[in-house]
Amino acid sequence: MRIVLLNNKGGVGKTMIAGGIAEDAARRGRRVLLVDMDPQANTTDRFGVRPEIASGRVDELHSLTRCLAPGVRNGDAGDYLYSCQWREEWAELIQVLPADLDLEDRAIEAGLPGAANRLRKALAGVDDDHDITIIDCAPSLKGHLTGMSLAALNGDADAVVVPLAAERYAITGALRSTAYVRATRDDFGVPHLDVAGLVVNSVRSGTNTHKVRYEQLVDQFAGLTGGPVRVLGDRIPLRARVAELQDLARPMLDDRDLGANPAGDPTGVVASIRTITDALLAREAVAA
Ligand SMILES: Nc1ncnc2c1ncn2[C@@H]1O[C@H](COP(=O)(O)OP(=O)(O)OP(=O)(O)O)[C@@H](O)[C@H]1O
Ligand SMILES: [Mg+2]
Repeated sequence: MRIVLLNNKGGVGKTMIAGGIAEDAARRGRRVLLVDMDPQANTTDRFGVRPEIASGRVDELHSLTRCLAPGVRNGDAGDYLYSCQWREEWAELIQVLPADLDLEDRAIEAGLPGAANRLRKALAGVDDDHDITIIDCAPSLKGHLTGMSLAALNGDADAVVVPLAAERYAITGALRSTAYVRATRDDFGVPHLDVAGLVVNSVRSGTNTHKVRYEQLVDQFAGLTGGPVRVLGDRIPLRARVAELQDLARPMLDDRDLGANPAGDPTGVVASIRTITDALLAREAVAA
C-alpha cells in the first residue's frame, strides 16, 4: 500500500506525520518504505540518510534526483534504497529513498513525454514486500514532483492522506488538495484514487478557536462535491516536544512526554499517531 501526504499549505506536519507512521509501523514489525519527494529533504535527514556520502560526490548525489532522471526504467528505485540509520533494532525495517535539493531539477521536466509516470516506474516491484510506502511531498499541489507522487498511487489500497491544522489556511489548503486529487486522477492514470482521510494536527486544547475550526472543517469536508472526507484516527495535540525530537532527528514514540496525556488534552501524541497507523493498516487489510 502506498500513501501520499499532501497539503499545499506548508508546515502542517506532513513530514512529522510521515515519520511518525513509519516509526509506529516499524515498531509493530512492519516493513516501511519512506519516499522523500520534497527537495527540502527533511525526511531524508531525519532518518539519518546521507546520499552525499554514499555517492562520494557533491555534484551528483545518489538520490531520487538521479533515480527519476529521463530514461528511468521499471524497478530502478531498488538501487537507491538506504536503511534508516537509527540504532534501534526495529529501525532496520525502515528504508528511505532520499531527496536532495537538486530534486528541483526533475520538477522542470514535467513537459517531457511520460514524465508523470517516472516514480511509478521506478517503484515497480520495489515495494511489493513493504507493508506501507509513505511518500512525503513538498507543500505544492500542481508541481511535477507532486504529480509524479499521485501517479504512483495505482494500487487498490493506495490513497492520499491530507494533514492539516484546525486553522483557516490549512483547511483551505486541504480542501484544495482534495479537489485537485479528484479533478486530476484520470489524467494521472489513477481513476480510482481518492483521499483516505484527514489527519488533524497541532491541536491546542483549551482554545476555542481550534474547537470551532474543527467543527467547521468536519462540516466543510462533509459537503465536498465528489463525496465526504473523514478524519483518520485521533487529533494530534500541539506539543513543543514534537518539534524538539524532529530537530534532534530521533525517534519520538518512546518519549515519555509524548506518551503522556496531560490535563486538558484528549489524547497524547503517541496514542493519536497509533490510531492513524491503525486506520491505514486497516485499509490495507480490506484491500488485500
Ligand atoms: N503536533 C505538533 N506539535 C508541535 N510541533 C509540531 C507538531 N507537528 C509538527 N510540528 C513542528 O512543526 C514544524 C513543521 O512540521 P513539518 O515539517 O512536519 O510540516 P510539513 O507540512 O512537512 O512542512 P513542509 O510543508 O515545509 O514540508 C516542524 O518543526 C515540526 O516539528
Ligand atoms: Mg515536509
